[in-house]
Amino acid sequence: MGKYDFDRVIDRRGSGAMKVDALDEFYGRHDLLALWIADMDFAVSPCICDALVARMRHPIYGYATVPDSYWESIISWLDRRHGWKVDRSELTYIPGVVKAIGYAINHFTAVGESILIQPPVYHPFRRLIEGNRRVMIKNPLLLDEESGTYRMDFDDLEAKFRDHRPRMMILCNPHNPAGLQWDEESLRRVASLARKYGVVVVSDEIHGDLMLRGTRHIPFASVSDDAAEVAVTFGAPSKTFNIAGLVSSWCVVKNPALRNSFFEWLEINEFSAPTFVATLGTEIAYRCGDDWLDEVLEYIEGSFDMVERILAERLPAVKMIRSNASFLAWLDCRGLGLTHQELIDLFVDRAHLALNDGAMFGDEGEGFMRLNLGSPRSVIREAMDTLVACVEGAGL
Ligand SMILES: Cc1ncc(COP(=O)(O)O)c(C=O)c1O
Repeated sequence: MGKYDFDRVIDRRGSGAMKVDALDEFYGRHDLLALWIADMDFAVSPCICDALVARMRHPIYGYATVPDSYWESIISWLDRRHGWKVDRSELTYIPGVVKAIGYAINHFTAVGESILIQPPVYHPFRRLIEGNRRVMIKNPLLLDEESGTYRMDFDDLEAKFRDHRPRMMILCNPHNPAGLQWDEESLRRVASLARKYGVVVVSDEIHGDLMLRGTRHIPFASVSDDAAEVAVTFGAPSKTFNIAGLVSSWCVVKNPALRNSFFEWLEINEFSAPTFVATLGTEIAYRCGDDWLDEVLEYIEGSFDMVERILAERLPAVKMIRSNASFLAWLDCRGLGLTHQELIDLFVDRAHLALNDGAMFGDEGEGFMRLNLGSPRSVIREAMDTLVACVEGAGL
């Protein structure tokens, strides 16, 4: 038994949690087990809760300073956990990674220019590109059926860089939904091609602290001089410590030519001005959260093992993509032989399970579902038992 109780089932209904309180809006029904949106159903580390509650007792919530200790906590975390040296001048606050990708798109590219992504990938990337009237270029990941995992298609990447001349690439490192930390060699190759073709690489590293089974997070900007030259990196304590609602993220840009104009633009628009809740939550999480994070990762690894076992023994038509990062299980359901709509009906209407529909992540995700394992194991087990029973009941 560890120090923290991740088996505890906490009722989030009525707390305004999107994961449970927006089921009706997104699925058309509320009687579903919520295993979709990427936050966790675990209580945050008590040190975070205590610090926020103590501050909130002070009855004035006015404009706040940003303490030096806030910046130091981020710099120290990146060095301590990932061996990544970042200077204060290379770092700024951003109010969320999705918003910041939108800022970067607006700052570094013009309407009508192309931006490359690697589907199946986190769905807001597409919305940000198309909604900002840029052109989306796809470099789909290759699924290696034998090893059960994805790799990048570098021939296609170079061809897309050469033929479409995108101004930007949005890299997901680690990758969502596949739960993959990219290896150093792949990141180096991306960097060298990006530099050759003058592409800014926005690296979304929001899942970077959630490393499983001894995997090391490799910040894209750290792999080579090319990478440091082209990278705009976004990260956050939000996924790591289950504090997404505090809206606190950071941006690191090593290359002064990219950094100076971007940071200045963020500052002019006050996009880089955090609330005191953001700075306090971030600092306390990075200073006191190591043991909570290590324990939660161990718990999640155990949940991955459990799901893998259940699928192998009772539902072999569904395979889990081999992942090494985050709490998201990417389920390959193509073996069930259903159309994508039938698959959604099976999960939602028969099994009453709210997972993320794989096609949200691009056409490449058809036949897949994304299962969030950031819940107590009893909940995950219940979901798997129900799914197995429904598949058997449907005679699939
Ligand atoms: C890859 C990725 N980027 C960004 C986000 C959201 O980040 P934020 O809440 O900081 O906008 C998520 C959340 O699921 C994510 O998985």
